[in-house]
Amino acid sequence: MKHIFEKGVNSDRTLLLLHGTGGTESDLIPLGKMIDSEANILSCRGNVSENGMPRFFKRLAEGVFDEEDLILRTKELNDFIREASDTYQFNREEVVAIGYSNGANIAGSLLFHFKNSLKCAILHHPMVPRRGVQLPNMVDLPVFIGAGKNDPICKPEETEDLAELLKKAGATVSIHWESYGHQLTKSEAQAAADWYKREI
Ligand code: MLT
Repeated sequence: MKHIFEKGVNSDRTLLLLHGTGGTESDLIPLGKMIDSEANILSCRGNVSENGMPRFFKRLAEGVFDEEDLILRTKELNDFIREASDTYQFNREEVVAIGYSNGANIAGSLLFHFKNSLKCAILHHPMVPRRGVQLPNMVDLPVFIGAGKNDPICKPEETEDLAELLKKAGATVSIHWESYGHQLTKSEAQAAADWYKREI
């Protein structure tokens, strides 16, 4: 996968940064540094192109995921993290995902499909990646969800459903609500940084 790796300062932790539709691997680097300025950064570009816009998996329509491709791309990302941990010599057990929108959805999909794939997840405006599947045990997994009360893409019900599914699997979930739409606001980013400092 196309990516940026930046070595951190005396840190065992690696931030896996996953952009939204149409973004690139550069987009979330400032957010990552705001959340943890010392961690390694592994920022990926989605392998799928939708009319030239990078994404992490295909969709059939807005909000309707191509499940087969989602499963394949989730495995591809999980394999890539393992390979990158060998290449760059970081601890695979200490990977924290920070994703926005489509990137949050593939991060959620990592949690849904691979046990212990992430140490912690910060999901900005995520949806439920798949329904009706058995989730791995997520005990001790802290998850931050940033959501918008007026988000037309990731509707509040979708946020609540995702939080419930993660909690049922054992995760500790914190939802931060903004009164805006799908955008990632400064105050939401600050709330994620404050949560990370408190919880991790
Ligand atoms: C998705 O396709 O992952 C979601 O609809 C969010 C988006 O990228 O617009």
